[in-house]
Amino acid sequence: MSDPDRATNQPPASIPRHVAIIMDGNGRWAKRRHLPRIAGHRAGVKSVRRVVEQCIGYGIEALTVFAFSTENWRRPQDEVGLLMELFLTALEKEVKKLHQNDVRMQVIGDRSRFPTKLQERIAEAERYTASNRALTFTIAANYGGRWDITQAVRKLGRRIESGEMSADAVTEQLLQSGLALAELPEPDLFIRTGGEQRISNFLLWQLAYTELYFTDTLWPDFGKESFAEALHSFASRQRRFGRTSEQVEEQERAL
Ligand code: FPP
Repeated sequence: MSDPDRATNQPPASIPRHVAIIMDGNGRWAKRRHLPRIAGHRAGVKSVRRVVEQCIGYGIEALTVFAFSTENWRRPQDEVGLLMELFLTALEKEVKKLHQNDVRMQVIGDRSRFPTKLQERIAEAERYTASNRALTFTIAANYGGRWDITQAVRKLGRRIESGEMSADAVTEQLLQSGLALAELPEPDLFIRTGGEQRISNFLLWQLAYTELYFTDTLWPDFGKESFAEALHSFASRQRRFGRTSEQVEEQERAL
């Protein structure tokens, strides 16, 4: 509570443009209640809805959540199957509400391994909400940061192979333009719930300068207060992007 805004219950002094979240702890939440793991994922969907609403309220431009990693296929077959069903029902249930709230929804990751019906629903939801502007809500599904960088490199490789450009013309900016979230600002704040302090192959390139926030709270328990806490922590940090604090303070005074 050392942050003065937090003590006076004020909104945070600076709001991130883009928040990225690893939603961890659904399984443990269910286990503590002697429920099957899928009950934790269902409760997790409610938390997602709550955070989307919060982002709209705070005027956050982009929210990206990690729903299914390239490694999650290693989970028991029945949990994977139930998760796919849950994605499908959540999509069917939520898309209209997202649209009414001016939310653009998109999925990043290799969706070719998903059931055909799910792939179709994702494409429909993306088309339906494409022109919405209040919030860009991205679901990373069968996504991995290494996969993302690899597919961006492959695109550049093809252009070099065809003679369209030389290898020396490859720049960070060009590589970045082939990544999944190329058109969004890089995440300002990364949140991981559930107690682990790892990036777990999430947005590896995009998190280079992101403020990292870890909490023990399990994802289904991550409510309004928890999100506010994370935003206040973000607001209390000084982002230097490689500069000294004196340089940053001087620039802030000049604004
Ligand atoms: C991690 O908890 C959670 C997942 C791998 C799945 C996340 C999915 C949802 C929250 C629901 C669907 C979301 C959308 C956007 C439709 P865990 O199972 O690893 O928990 P544990 O570490 O306690 O076992």
